[in-house]
Amino acid sequence: MAKLLITGGSGFIGTNFIRYWKRAHPNDALTNLDLLTYAGSEAAGTNGAKSAARFVKGDICHAPTVQRLMRGTDAVIHFAAETHVDRSILDSQVFLKTNVLGTHTLLEAARKANVKKFIFISTDEVYGSIDKGSFTEFSSLRPNSPYAASKAAADLLCRSYWVTHRFPVIVTRASNNYGPYQFPEKVIPLFITNLLQGKKVPLYGKGDNKREWIHAEDHARAIEKVLDKGEPGEIYNVGSGYELSNRELAGMILKLLGKGEDFIEPVQDRPGHDFRYALDSSKLKNLGWAPQKNFSQGLAETVEWYRSNESWWKKIKGKNTYKTYIRKQYAGRSK
Ligand code: NAD
Ligand code: TYD
Repeated sequence: MAKLLITGGSGFIGTNFIRYWKRAHPNDALTNLDLLTYAGSEAAGTNGAKSAARFVKGDICHAPTVQRLMRGTDAVIHFAAETHVDRSILDSQVFLKTNVLGTHTLLEAARKANVKKFIFISTDEVYGSIDKGSFTEFSSLRPNSPYAASKAAADLLCRSYWVTHRFPVIVTRASNNYGPYQFPEKVIPLFITNLLQGKKVPLYGKGDNKREWIHAEDHARAIEKVLDKGEPGEIYNVGSGYELSNRELAGMILKLLGKGEDFIEPVQDRPGHDFRYALDSSKLKNLGWAPQKNFSQGLAETVEWYRSNESWWKKIKGKNTYKTYIRKQYAGRSK
C-alpha cells in the first residue's frame, strides 16, 4: 500500500485523478490537500470519491500544514494551482503566490520528509506558442501569460531541487485537458454550459488558435505511468497528438447540442493569446503509455456529463464566472 499526498484534488484534473486512482489502486491511502478556492469543489472531490481520499482543507503555502501531511507520505502528486489564463491577465498576484511559493513550500517539506517521488503537474504552456511542429522536453521555455510564467517558475524550481538536492522530482507537461468536473470558465465547459442555457459561445479573435486536447483520464493514466516508470529529474510531455482550432472545436460542440453557427459570438481576442500548443509525447510513449480516449467520443460523453450534472455547474457558474470576476475587479474604479 502506498501513501499518496494529492494537492488540488478537488479541482478538475485532481478529481479525475483521484477517481481513476481509487479504481486502479483501491488499497492505496490518498490524502487530498485543497484550499477549495472558487475552482475547487467539495462535490467534485467527494462525490463518489468520498471514501477515496482523506480530505484536508488547507493552503499549500502554509508550511506547518504541509509539513504535517508530508510525514509518512511515499509520493506527492502536486496539481494545486491557479489555472485560468484570463484571470492571470487581470490579477496575477495569487498565481505567483500559489503556483510558485506554494510549490516551493511543498518541495521543501517533501525533501525534509524524504518523500520518495514528487510529481509536479506542469503544463505545455511553459513552452509558449509554436506555429509548426511540436515541443520536445528540450525545447526552451518561453511562457507568454502570467499563468504560464508562474508555472514555468515552479517547473524550474523543481529542476533545481533535483540538480541541487537530488530530491526525486518528476515534471509532467500536459496539453489542454477536457472531461467531467472542469470549471465552466475554461473553453469546453463554458461553451457547453452556455449552449445548455440557450446562450451564445464567445469565440476569441478569429477562432484560428489551436489546442491539443487530452482527456483527464488519459492524463491520470500518464501520471500513473510516470509514478511507476519515470526517472527522477526527468520531464515528460503528455499530449494526445489530437489538435484542432477553437472554431473547429466550437463547431463540434454546437453540433452535439443541436445548435447552428449563429450561436458563435466573435469577441475581442485575449491579449498575448498563444496561437498554438503541440507536444511531442514520444518520451512518455516509450515508457508504455498511450492515450485511450477518442476525442469525438470523449467530447460527446463530456457534453452528456454536463447535461446530466446541471446541479453541479449551475451553482458555481452564476457566482464565479470570469465576467463576474472582472466586474468585481473593476467595481468602483471609474469613480
Ligand atoms: P483547477 O483550477 O480546476 O483546480 C485547481 C485546484 O487547486 C482547485 O481545487 C483549488 O481549490 C486548488 N487550489 C488552488 N490554490 C490552492 C492553494 N493555495 N492550496 C491548496 N489548493 C489550492 O485546475 P486543473 O485544471 O485541475 O489543473 C490542475 C493542474 O494541472 C494545475 O497545476 C494546472 O496548471 C495543470 N494543468 C492543467 C491543464 C488543463 O487543461 N486544465 C493542462 C495542463 C496542466
Ligand atoms: P482555455 O480553456 O482558457 O485554456 P488555455 O488558454 O489555457 O489554452 O482556452 C482554450 C482556448 O479557447 C484558447 O485558445 C482561448 C479560447 N477561448 C475562447 O475562444 N473563448 C473563451 O471564452 C475562452 C475561455 C477561451
